[in-house]
Amino acid sequence: MNTLLLSSFDAATPALAAEIIRNGELVAIPTETVYGLGANGLDENAVAKIFEAKGRPQDNPLILHLSCAEEMDRYCHHVPQMAYRLAEKYWPGPLTIVLPARECVPKRTTGGLDTVAVRCPDNDVTREIIRLAGVPLAAPSANISGKPSTTTAQHVLHDHDGRIAAVVDGGPCRVGVESTIVDLTGDRPRLLRPGGVTPEELTDVLGDLVVDKAVTAQIDQDAVVKAPGMKYKHYAPDCDVVIVAGSREKAAAYIRGHYVPGDRVLCFEEELPLYEDCEPLAYGREDAVETLSAGLFAALRELDEAGVSRVFARCPVGGGVAYAVQNRLKKAAAFRIIDAEKEL
Ligand code: TXA
Ligand code: MG
Repeated sequence: MNTLLLSSFDAATPALAAEIIRNGELVAIPTETVYGLGANGLDENAVAKIFEAKGRPQDNPLILHLSCAEEMDRYCHHVPQMAYRLAEKYWPGPLTIVLPARECVPKRTTGGLDTVAVRCPDNDVTREIIRLAGVPLAAPSANISGKPSTTTAQHVLHDHDGRIAAVVDGGPCRVGVESTIVDLTGDRPRLLRPGGVTPEELTDVLGDLVVDKAVTAQIDQDAVVKAPGMKYKHYAPDCDVVIVAGSREKAAAYIRGHYVPGDRVLCFEEELPLYEDCEPLAYGREDAVETLSAGLFAALRELDEAGVSRVFARCPVGGGVAYAVQNRLKKAAAFRIIDAEKEL
């Protein structure tokens, strides 16, 4: 199959992409978070192609992408007031809401669950594609399952060239980590995945928020969890990632003491001078955490390409978007964290 590369600046792109989706084929789409691998979310056969292309476990449900908040009631029922309030404040934007699913949503899309995850992405071209297709777009992150997410059209081609119908190139993603997921189907609102909408922003609207344990720890493969995706290996480059926590100086002392040729250091731009002999790669600035979220996955992919064996990684501290960066980096590191303050 010849994969079409469509530019989001080309006025013909939305109609063409929408037609391919209506024909049951896969189109990778840009969003503000990461690129998604999209298909008609109401068409079981089209959705099956997503699972096949990604090598994704069948029980891991997909997010339905909507063109506007008004579409929520078409695919979800018993929508609580809280969901409308969240949508009003944060849509279009990096927030996914889990709600009871209507019958029209195939079990293949929901991974067999009675609930469905919905979100309205903050990308005009992608919302126009969804509107013209006239169907919700089921779209996981476009990476091969388990690998770092795709934040450019080139990342998508790297993983899927020749195996999907088209990629819409909308440039690098602004947020760079996947959407925040909040589950509103339980007794209390539950954070299933941190992202661009912060826990503090959710609590502002909801007044209450439980953080699911899948966010903070490694989940057993056999566990029954709220977010089935959280138990699988995630964001992992082929190399071993070890997070080194602690002050700039202590971390640098630890890393320089343990570095051997073939290792790499994934750090903040401010730290580059500390690692001159350790082939450092900066993924953003510590004093501008949104540059870290935007740069993380591209950096992990670059390290993969370079065939590195071990990466010492520096992780931002604190809440807000830093919380989402910590979550992704800890998962990439399989929760291996060394505290340089204690080690030295
Ligand atoms: O930012 C994003 O959300 C990106 C872009 C493309 O929109 N999409 C994305 O999809 O990250 P994916 O499939 O890589 O991650 C979706 C996560 C998975 O962990 C999945 O298990 C969870 O959402 N999920 C989907 N439906 C769910 C449901 N009904 N209940 C609980 N978790 C759900
Ligand atoms: Mg994903």
